[in-house]
Amino acid sequence: MASAVSRMGYALGQGTRVAWYFSHYLLAARLAGRNTSPPKKERKTNRHTAGRDTVLQSLRELFERDLQNIEAGHYAMPHDLVPNPIALMRGSQRFFRDLPSVRKRRATRENDDVPAVDVSEFPRYYRQNFHYQSDGYLSDHSAKLYDFQVETLFSGAADAMRRQALVPIAEYLKNRDQRQLKLLDVACGTGRFLTFVKDNFPRLRAMGLDLSPHYLNQCKRNLKRWRDATTTQANAEEIPLADDSQDIVSCIYLFHELPPKVRTIVAQELARVLKPGGMLVFVDSLQYGDRDGFDGLLDLFPDEFHEPYYASYAEQDLAELFEDVGLHRKEETLAFLSKVMVFEKS
Ligand SMILES: C[S@@+](CC[C@H](N)C(=O)[O-])C[C@H]1O[C@@H](n2cnc3c(N)ncnc32)[C@H](O)[C@@H]1O
Repeated sequence: MASAVSRMGYALGQGTRVAWYFSHYLLAARLAGRNTSPPKKERKTNRHTAGRDTVLQSLRELFERDLQNIEAGHYAMPHDLVPNPIALMRGSQRFFRDLPSVRKRRATRENDDVPAVDVSEFPRYYRQNFHYQSDGYLSDHSAKLYDFQVETLFSGAADAMRRQALVPIAEYLKNRDQRQLKLLDVACGTGRFLTFVKDNFPRLRAMGLDLSPHYLNQCKRNLKRWRDATTTQANAEEIPLADDSQDIVSCIYLFHELPPKVRTIVAQELARVLKPGGMLVFVDSLQYGDRDGFDGLLDLFPDEFHEPYYASYAEQDLAELFEDVGLHRKEETLAFLSKVMVFEKS
């Protein structure tokens, strides 16, 4: 009975999210005269592109797994699965007001339209309009829009993909005293993942690190229910924490936005701050060869949404990248358009 109620609650909450964000996705694409939905039929281009049914099946599998994880007790029903209608309306308004500028940048391929900042603090690769988003990561306006834009891009599945990283964390914490353990979320952005971490493991000492002061401000607002969570503004290339100081490091959707050389430096930093025996939970986009039929979709993404380092990310051997810095791959699972990898420091 309890399970039937939670299944219904989940279906209602997640169904509302998908309907809301997917309709925004379609409307935005239509207004832009863009066709970004997967082709109805499978087609062979340079790389095989899955049809709509295959993509939808993979989305359904993600939600089924999310629910199974909840039922298995790996994590709780998401704290805001049923979204606040006022927040949704505000988000929608902001999204549509901003859309013409995104469209203009996409049409002109303009990608360096960001506020002036101290160039010694923010590297060149960072000062860009990733996804053609207004101000890049460099304004409050962008930080307020980000979560809505990302959920729209993934048709309401972004949080469910992030939550898959909670499973290895729950495993790691079993029979351990959370109060003694530290988790660092590198490139935490607006803190969506940290809200799930704190909601499930309230005593864990969690910190979010990001280069954007604006995103960190939004992160603090998102985390206001969990006052002991902390944040720090820093470049992931130089994490201002001691060697061997963290039990768990998470890193979600950062690496596909880094140039190859910087990926190596950041991987070294993640390994450096982890304690021996500590765990890295890594979530990022699928790569070539990960999911049958999805390689063609990976080709479309960086073109429609400015992602200058995506192609090189999609073909990098991540197990080798992390192995070279002393992190050994323990697990790898796919979650719709993302993959979750778990590494251990020897
Ligand atoms: C695609 S967002 C992902 C944010 C978040 N992890 C999520 O799940 O939505 C990328 C984030 O990485 C941050 N970032 C990019 N380069 C960085 C760097 N070198 N150091 C620290 N943060 C960085 C950006 O400010 C942004 O918040």
